[in-house]
Amino acid sequence: AVSIPQGLVEAVRGAKNVAVLTGAGISAESGLPTFRDPQTGLWEKFRPEDLATPEAFQRNPKLVWEWYAHRRELMGLAQPNPGHAALAAIERHAATFTLITQNIDGLHQRAGSRNVLELHGNIARTRCFEEDTLVESWSANGEVPPHCPRCGGLLRPDVVWFGESLPEETFEQALEAAIFCDLFFSIGTSGLVEPAASLTEVARRAGATIVVLNLEVEPLASPDLYQLNGPAGQTLPELVRQAWQGEV
Ligand code: NAD
Ligand code: APR
Repeated sequence: AVSIPQGLVEAVRGAKNVAVLTGAGISAESGLPTFRDPQTGLWEKFRPEDLATPEAFQRNPKLVWEWYAHRRELMGLAQPNPGHAALAAIERHAATFTLITQNIDGLHQRAGSRNVLELHGNIARTRCFEEDTLVESWSANGEVPPHCPRCGGLLRPDVVWFGESLPEETFEQALEAAIFCDLFFSIGTSGLVEPAASLTEVARRAGATIVVLNLEVEPLASPDLYQLNGPAGQTLPELVRQAWQGEV
């Protein structure tokens, strides 16, 4: 079984205001590829500049739609894993809880998490490229969906691409949660992409206890920092079990 430092179990049990930043790693055990893992990461096979930038989309909307339709189908088939469920359990015990995710797969919401901030959008939603407004339609077969019903412009997945800004209001709320919390988890993210990656440092500077959960994290000897190596689908449920002895 996973060995959890007792101090961390106490910190989780006693935490009032919790904030969590998740990345692709928390959905890996739901069968969704991450971006940068060696061999299995998406960016090993595809070039981000060909698929996840506004320029790539304007150059070849059909190719970009096909890629996102493929990912949307994968995500629709994927199921939340015990790591997602453990976060929904922590939310039920905390006084305030904010789940900040870089993922676009919607699995946190399907696992029962309620206060979710989607920094990079959600693949299930479609937006008008010109007017930047949400539209209902999405063709399931990966064809470029019909043009915007209002302005006739191109439609795009409602996700944030490289070089694009994050939704301001959402990022503001994420910053506030990072500053306000007394316990901050960074789970399954390589921490290579800004500004999401900066939230952990913001929380640490504001005095929160930091918990980093990743497959392997280089040991950082710093007070108020816990590191839990291993798959989040195993470490998180074990942490919740020890903190609330099966009241999960
Ligand atoms: P980037 O380094 O270009 O910066 C992302 C955006 O955030 C930029 O507009 C930048 O101005 C802004 N920004 C940077 N630091 C900031 C801060 N401290 N406060 C406020 N705004 C800040 O990021 P990127 O690597 O080009 O990717 C852009 C975003 O798109 C990233 O968040 C990335 O994770 C996301 N993305 C999503 C997908 C997907 O499929 N969902 C794919 C690729 C990238
Ligand atoms: N449990 C915990 N961590 C895991 C697991 C797992 N089962 N599997 C992989 N990881 C870790 C990897 O070690 C890595 O540190 O998850 C992290 C995944 O990192 P990335 O692939 O870079 O994904 P992410 O951090 O979410 O990327 C940030 O960049 O490409 C853009 O917009 C995209 O949202 C994404 C952003």
